[in-house]
Amino acid sequence: MPSITPLILVLASLASLAPSTQAETVLGVYIFHRHGDRTSKSFAPTTLTNLGYQQVYSSGEFYRARYIESNASSPIYGVSPDVVKNSQLSVQAPVDTVLQTSAASFLQALYPPVGNTETLANGTRIESGLQFIPVSAVATAASGTDSENNVWLQGQSNCQNAILSSNSYFYSQEYLDKLSSTAGFYKSILPVINGTFTAETDTFKNAYGIYDLVHVSTIHNSSIPSSDLLTDEALFQLRTLADDHEYKLAFNASEPIRAISGSTLAAQIVQDLNSTIVGKSKAPISIEFGAYASFFSFFGLAQLPKASENFTGLVDYASSMVFELVTNATVSKTSYPSNDQISVRFLFSNGTAAGNPLTPYPLFGGDQSSTLIPWTGFVDGMNKFAIGDQVHWCNACGNSTGVCASAADSTASSTSSKSSPSSSGGVSKVVAGVIGALVTLAVVFGLEALIMLVGGLRLVNKKRLSGHGTPENAGAASVATKA
Ligand SMILES: *[C@@H]1O[C@H](CO)[C@@H](O)[C@H](O)[C@H]1NC(C)=O
Ligand SMILES: *[C@@H]1O[C@H](CO)[C@@H](O)[C@H](O)[C@H]1NC(C)=O
Ligand SMILES: *[C@@H]1O[C@H](CO)[C@@H](O)[C@H](O)[C@H]1NC(C)=O
Ligand SMILES: *[C@@H]1O[C@H](CO)[C@@H](O)[C@H](O)[C@H]1NC(C)=O
Ligand SMILES: *[C@@H]1O[C@H](CO)[C@@H](O)[C@H](O)[C@H]1NC(C)=O
Ligand SMILES: *[C@@H]1O[C@H](CO)[C@@H](O)[C@H](O)[C@H]1NC(C)=O
Ligand SMILES: *[C@@H]1O[C@H](CO)[C@@H](O)[C@H](O)[C@H]1NC(C)=O
Ligand SMILES: *[C@@H]1O[C@H](CO)[C@@H](O)[C@H](O)[C@H]1NC(C)=O
Ligand SMILES: *[C@@H]1O[C@H](CO)[C@@H](O)[C@H](O)[C@H]1NC(C)=O
Ligand SMILES: *[C@@H]1O[C@H](CO)[C@@H](O)[C@H](O)[C@H]1NC(C)=O
Repeated sequence: MPSITPLILVLASLASLAPSTQAETVLGVYIFHRHGDRTSKSFAPTTLTNLGYQQVYSSGEFYRARYIESNASSPIYGVSPDVVKNSQLSVQAPVDTVLQTSAASFLQALYPPVGNTETLANGTRIESGLQFIPVSAVATAASGTDSENNVWLQGQSNCQNAILSSNSYFYSQEYLDKLSSTAGFYKSILPVINGTFTAETDTFKNAYGIYDLVHVSTIHNSSIPSSDLLTDEALFQLRTLADDHEYKLAFNASEPIRAISGSTLAAQIVQDLNSTIVGKSKAPISIEFGAYASFFSFFGLAQLPKASENFTGLVDYASSMVFELVTNATVSKTSYPSNDQISVRFLFSNGTAAGNPLTPYPLFGGDQSSTLIPWTGFVDGMNKFAIGDQVHWCNACGNSTGVCASAADSTASSTSSKSSPSSSGGVSKVVAGVIGALVTLAVVFGLEALIMLVGGLRLVNKKRLSGHGTPENAGAASVATKA
């Protein structure tokens, strides 16, 4: 077949050209990840389900295949492909069972077991394959725990002005109009949820709690009472009303403090990516697990709804957003690119990345073609809303007691130059609002447990939600004890 030979030669030469023309190198990544499928927030304690474990585990496999293994599609420069080097990655999650276990599950797939034997002095050989990666608690100036046990999304921010801002939503005309226009709809589905909600609590005010209960039930419960009322239309209404309610609570363009969790996350992202650059990719991977509210606040601040209205909808379980540091410059032991040769690409996957495309979107209201942002432009864009040190946080939040007492002093005395706040050590660890000891959780879900799940699962824990004194929590707590 001589006529085919030239074609093969052309293809071969194209293939050999390809690597040199688009030799993009990933220098590091920051991944912000939602937990997997979990039990309903109406029945504390909320826990990760086996399905949820699968979702985050498969997401971990996806990222391993993209960034880590030796044949990865976009390998991270210098990363250890099989045996984890703990110095190369930092993983954190709030002190919350669902988020901590999600992180642990994800890591099992990111660095799966490797055969490894150690020989003791007396010649005995010890086999172990598992790799252990510590998950640190998101340590912050503010404190708060159990994000996923808490129905109210601002309950954990501990930021006074953010709490006030979110609470003011309940007095906005927009909210009051929705409350009355949807009263009939909520009433119509009461028979579905009357084991948990009453005629009084079954309103738009509890849009998320109601949606969450129904959503979890449609996934796990084969015997939902009055399920004929849950038409596609009704399910769509429940979801989009919850979307609206939660997005508005997490972000208001006129009151950026409401999105404090997005601001602290932004600071953390810039700081970690910057450390990757400064350290020449010695620690190229940062992974953080967090709640949907932080996604929402960040989306609003970064103007992602301009790229797609979809960003005003609740992200699915096990969703992830990724910030890739990339360059086309040569990277080697002796040459690391300069700041102006480095760009950032933002990508989002709605649900486990194993089954949902990881798609680039433009940040900061840029047009669809500008999904690659020069590093300095990225830093400028993020710094318009990032809040990364304690003094700044305390000022923005209007807090002046507790950990903020010294911040109040130092701003009072240093409106002019001189003393850069001596107490600012906690930089950007202010993040999503949690302090605490390092929590290490080993989670082992067996296949047997999965079979039990398929066979039917009972949801019986009726412990009270940990109330934080907000009207929403008070409602949810009393509701939960009724269930
Ligand atoms: C990469 O290598 C792994 C392990 O050797 C293998 O399972 C996988 O199929 C490979 N992937 C690709 C895209 O070649
Ligand atoms: C070898 O040392 C280990 C650890 O001290 C001990 O558990 C084991 O029993 C020893 N084996 C023999 C054969 O002495
Ligand atoms: C900030 O103030 C709010 C409201 O007074 C309080 O609930 C919260 O604990 C304070 N946060 C910190 C970190 O002191
Ligand atoms: C957003 O903030 C503005 C300005 O403070 C306020 O008037 C409006 O009611 C808020 N909207 C919502 C939905 O919270
Ligand atoms: C819930 O509503 C159904 C249908 O109206 C009714 O049969 C049932 O008794 C109610 N359950 C509770 C706990 O009120
Ligand atoms: C990055 O880190 C270096 C060294 O700590 C610091 O000088 C620089 O200001 C940081 N840049 C950004 C954008 O944070
Ligand atoms: C928004 O989501 C819908 C449904 O998943 C999808 O078809 C559409 O392409 C998305 N729009 C954008 C701009 O991503
Ligand atoms: C993610 O999917 C949900 C539906 O499951 C949708 O409401 C939301 O808009 C989507 N978000 C994005 C950014 O695509
Ligand atoms: C690298 O070059 C390719 C091909 O020209 C281009 O598509 C890509 O955007 C470049 N990446 C960076 C980080 O500049
Ligand atoms: C399913 O719904 C029934 C009826 O409301 C309830 O008794 C049961 O606890 C629910 N099971 C789960 C797994 O939610």
